[in-house]
Amino acid sequence: RILIIDFGSQVTQLIARRVRESGVYCEVHPFNKVSEDSIRAFGPAGVILSGGPASVIGEGSPRAPQALFTLGLPVLGICYGQQTMVAQLGGRVEAPDHREFGRAFVEVTGTCALFEDVWASGQREQVWMSHGDRVIALPEGFAVVATSEGAPFAAIADEARRFYGVQFHPEVVHTPHGAQLLRTFTHTICGCQGTWTMAAFRDQAIARIRQQVGSKRVLCGLSGGVDSSVAAALIHEAIGDQLVCVLVDHGFMRAGEAEEVVSVFRDRFNIRLVHREASDLFLQRLDGLTDPEQKRKIIGATFIDVFEEEAKKVGGADFLAQGTLYPDVIESVSFAGGPSVTIKSHHNVGGLPERMNMALVEPLRDLFKDEVRALGRELGLPDTMVGRHPFPGPGLAIRIPGQPLTRELLDLLRKADAIYLEEIRAAGLYDAIWQAFAVLLPVRTVGVMGDSRSYDYALALRAVTSTDGMTADFFPFDAAFLSRVSNRIINEVKGINRVTYDVTSKPPGTIEWE
Ligand code: XMP
Repeated sequence: RILIIDFGSQVTQLIARRVRESGVYCEVHPFNKVSEDSIRAFGPAGVILSGGPASVIGEGSPRAPQALFTLGLPVLGICYGQQTMVAQLGGRVEAPDHREFGRAFVEVTGTCALFEDVWASGQREQVWMSHGDRVIALPEGFAVVATSEGAPFAAIADEARRFYGVQFHPEVVHTPHGAQLLRTFTHTICGCQGTWTMAAFRDQAIARIRQQVGSKRVLCGLSGGVDSSVAAALIHEAIGDQLVCVLVDHGFMRAGEAEEVVSVFRDRFNIRLVHREASDLFLQRLDGLTDPEQKRKIIGATFIDVFEEEAKKVGGADFLAQGTLYPDVIESVSFAGGPSVTIKSHHNVGGLPERMNMALVEPLRDLFKDEVRALGRELGLPDTMVGRHPFPGPGLAIRIPGQPLTRELLDLLRKADAIYLEEIRAAGLYDAIWQAFAVLLPVRTVGVMGDSRSYDYALALRAVTSTDGMTADFFPFDAAFLSRVSNRIINEVKGINRVTYDVTSKPPGTIEWE
């Protein structure tokens, strides 16, 4: 196993990902939470120091525990990680005028174990840089093995102690051989076997859940989304009937989704599942409202009320399961900048664990989305569930902008949405798209159907590609596809007579319309 010490880089998660992809288990620990003892307790075969936004020269800037360099472990420092290693071992770092961001080239000037099988001396290689400071004098024992225009010590090595430092970022895809360099570090230099798999993760996670929970009870809110579904299936495997799942059905789910959750979890997996149909209550509390943030808040609060009520009925619990993923964890400890502006309040159920005095069980917090999907398949969840697009907590309620919600409008939208997704699946495009959905617009337009005039709702279709939901681009459907979907919706959904396609990217747009 490999320990990654995080100095707050935006791409630390990619280091973890590359290491796992090479079949090696790793964990990311923030620099201020590691100590000589914790490193010994973790027992890594090697340590990677991440990049970070701080300047090594700055007063009180983050450091690795000094003892790390006396434990006999191989260490790879990346960007800030390289600089702090150099500074901590007696070399020098400066802040030059010249900074290097983006694509750059390094000249390989020497050989070292890190470059073995990948880069030979004399080669010119593409890398990705993002640094202000740079190393200008090496500690004793180090030699330079690559240089770049902005970084005379773009790669350095102390072969005897197995310390390596790179100024560039091997973890990003813009460093074409980066993944191989990391693999060489974990396999050849640290001697990891590369036998770690999702099956191994599953066993470890189950053991950890059992240890955390003991004979106590765990509650899990199921939404039909990938994360909560996988978390529930995993926890069930660990503790069986000590897990009780609650599906709070607010009436804003897609066609057939609540039914699928019930049939998969209750019937197939034999998981204790409370299905509470609460659409009346939700609609009543939202009556007459159109402001998106107000809707989100009321839906969040109502969700908590209903969940709490059902939890009491089953006798409460000590633990609450959450499908928190690694990117969520990183975001919440991120160093970047001050408080950011809230564009939309996504965290719909915040405060629940405190209010009910429950501790959290978060078995997915070390994983990335696609790893969660792999784990879900490993656990036997159906592909329709595991491969599902993200779906917002407030569901269809935030896809009917500008007019008060009614059952009739929700039904219209649900039908149109189902046709759209059916066509996307039939065209084999579902997996190429990050998210696709329909939005029922608060406008009626004139049309001609048969020989008479119609005056019905207009619908917007949205489909985007994205890797993390933070930025997105609209999906370039061909005209024949859009025309097919439009025809079907107008012919099959009475009440809609016009279909449009949203061609906005994010930014400046957002993925949802409200
Ligand atoms: P936006 O619209 O901000 O969406 O570009 C980014 C991602 O977040 C989802 N989203 C939500 N998820 N509760 C959620 O759980 C919400 O209130 C919410 N609003 C947006 C959106 O579907 C997309 O995946």
